Amino acid sequence: MAAELKQAIIQEIRNAQAGRIPFRRYMELALYHPRWGYYTGNRKKLGPEGDFYTSPFVGEVFGRTWGRFLRRFWGQAPFVLVEAGAGDGRLTEQILREWIREGLSPKEVVSYLLDVSPDHRAQQQQRLHEFCGIVHWVDSWDQIPPGGCTCIISNELLDAFPFHRVRRRKGCFQEIYVTLTPDQEGFAEIEGPLSTPELARYIKEMDVHLTEGQETEINLEAKQWVRDATEWWEQGLLITVDYGGLSHELTAPHRLQGTWRCYENHRLHTDVYQNPGEADITADVNFTALERWGHQLGLRRWVYQSQSRFLQEAGILDWVQPVTSADPFHPDHKRNRAIRQLIAPGGMGDAFQVMIQTKGLSLPPWP
Ligand SMILES: C[S@@+](CC[C@H](N)C(=O)[O-])C[C@H]1O[C@@H](n2cnc3c(N)ncnc32)[C@H](O)[C@@H]1O
Repeated sequence: MAAELKQAIIQEIRNAQAGRIPFRRYMELALYHPRWGYYTGNRKKLGPEGDFYTSPFVGEVFGRTWGRFLRRFWGQAPFVLVEAGAGDGRLTEQILREWIREGLSPKEVVSYLLDVSPDHRAQQQQRLHEFCGIVHWVDSWDQIPPGGCTCIISNELLDAFPFHRVRRRKGCFQEIYVTLTPDQEGFAEIEGPLSTPELARYIKEMDVHLTEGQETEINLEAKQWVRDATEWWEQGLLITVDYGGLSHELTAPHRLQGTWRCYENHRLHTDVYQNPGEADITADVNFTALERWGHQLGLRRWVYQSQSRFLQEAGILDWVQPVTSADPFHPDHKRNRAIRQLIAPGGMGDAFQVMIQTKGLSLPPWP
């Protein structure tokens, strides 16, 4: 698979003007090529046999906490839960099960999943088959009927969007392109002018400052995504959970190479040209940009805090159990360990941020 994809990318570079493509396009092919892309192919991506773990894999207490938190938005209007980029569907499952435990009829909610990966959709359908009639799959936002209180939630989705890489050279911004090595069989990086005026606009709007030779990522796809995800409903929430930070944090001088990295078989590396299609490529999400773009679309930031703080304020510690069993695999031990992992300082709890933007809702300050 990697060999076929590599040849397809080589061909595209050969055909491209000036024999180069923006890194963004290379990443798009590596992750989303219709036949051999990382997300479009069947490679096991999540969990122990995959490339990385996400919070819903750490323990069901993650989704239970979200389920309890979201409960407060059920009211007169029907509640519409949409999970975008849902992996194997376990976050939606954890949320629905928590609602059922609280005595709510799942019929009171309608839930949608939207994911580009046919492989992940199949896993979601298998996992959620008992919620048939409540859970629906869509290929695009316009397939979701508007109305009610809409909640769009994504965990580790925006970091997977193809991003541009820009670098400061002699006081100016240059873009990083991918070209071929002299033997035409490998990939090499080369700098060139910005491939779209949108990049210059972003640099100005986000007030991006880099030191000489420093690079950063620009995720323009996220801007369009926020628009598409929110322009069709009038009342609700956009919840984004991802690793990242504020614009000035992501471009701080110590981040000389930006924040991008690859995950492959639970190994973190930067050999991005080694096996295209076999590794996830990702970068920190710029939450300043997300807030600004949302604001332009009528969204108001309600919550922005680390996952650790958010989960604690949403009550995750209520599930901590005093344990009497010596068996380390006892469910109480496992749940306590999961909670610790989700909120531990210096780990997932700090690396991940939670941003909640609202539209048409008047809410007291959180928490
Ligand atoms: C890193 S995984 C996270 C999965 C899940 N949210 C979790 O926490 O376990 C990213 C997910 O987003 C999906 N995805 C990637 N790009 C997407 C896009 N542009 N639109 C919708 N889904 C996408 C992938 O197929 C995958 O299911």
